[in-house]
Amino acid sequence: MSKQRVLSGVQPTGNLHLGNYLGAIRNWVEIQSQYDNYFCVVDLHAITVPHNPATLAADTYTIAALYLACGIDLNYSSIFVQSHVCAHSELAWLLNCITPLNWLQDMIQFKEKAVKQGENVSAGLLDYPVLMAADILLYEPDKVPVGEDQKQHLELTRDIAARLNHQFGSPEVPVLKLPNPLIRKEGARVMSLTDGTRKMSKSDPAEGSRINLLDSPDEIAKKIKRCKTDPVRGLTFDDPNRPECNNLLTLYTLLSGKTKEAVAAECQDMGWGQFKPLLAEVAVEALKPIQQKYKDVMDERGYLESVLREGRQKAEAHANETLRKVKAALGYSMPV
Ligand code: AMP
Ligand code: TRP
Repeated sequence: MSKQRVLSGVQPTGNLHLGNYLGAIRNWVEIQSQYDNYFCVVDLHAITVPHNPATLAADTYTIAALYLACGIDLNYSSIFVQSHVCAHSELAWLLNCITPLNWLQDMIQFKEKAVKQGENVSAGLLDYPVLMAADILLYEPDKVPVGEDQKQHLELTRDIAARLNHQFGSPEVPVLKLPNPLIRKEGARVMSLTDGTRKMSKSDPAEGSRINLLDSPDEIAKKIKRCKTDPVRGLTFDDPNRPECNNLLTLYTLLSGKTKEAVAAECQDMGWGQFKPLLAEVAVEALKPIQQKYKDVMDERGYLESVLREGRQKAEAHANETLRKVKAALGYSMPV
């Protein structure tokens, strides 16, 4: 029996942070050997908000290199760039024409991002989830591992696929396969270091709110030293009045590899002055091998390019076949 398939992606906007790592990429790495995996750098999504053309390509390579540095293994996985496979844009157009406008207007992430953009909201920002649906549906994945914030987009993807199947397929022969989200409880929502009620985010203007995977040990220690805490002594998980405490203990648990029970016991009598250096130390240690591997990959540009070229070829073969199926179902025909 062939392996089930996995697809996921990250936008090349800025640096990856611990939320991206613990919520998404680390989980990809953990499960990759059981699946046939496609991991995409979604650079077409990166221009749905104002972007800098001078850094887009470099940011895209950075993310691809970080995938490798975090442990994506080419024996199990392909890494490719979304804009290299034209089928993504083309399927997005086809899906646009069957997606009701109000489904998109209801998306939480659109509403949040639109507020931040003020007057400058592009049609692309509204359309973002349709492009994401195209990314996913082209590869007919069984599972899509993401952080909690992408759940609504995955539900929309299923709704769009079901609608297309209903309108253009038959119950016996669906055109598109419905994917399932894979959202792990631990790490699914890493919170900001400066506000434990908001998620850690690339777009937060406060640099101190996140730890980036490529931050130096000094930067990591400084950010943790300055992060928001509370005046209570003794650290506990799951106290709704102490969101920062829960977040920092969760980070410590995930980065140290200890169990939640062990961490709860270890930290129950600690004060912040004792805990923060411990957290800084495990964060630095956890990121050290990733940073080293990242440097090695970036030093070999030719290798990275060959990884992306191969990834593109494999992705294209699958994507073009799905696109052909969808176009045929919608009534398109082209002489060969
Ligand atoms: P993005 O940075 O929006 O491209 O997100 C890439 C992946 O990281 C997605 O699977 C997100 O769900 C996940 N992610 C982003 N921020 C967080 C966070 N603060 N906690 C957990 N997962 C996150
Ligand atoms: N929207 C996702 C995010 O911000 C990124 C993304 C784009 C994605 N296409 C995807 C994730 C396909 C999973 C599968 O995190």
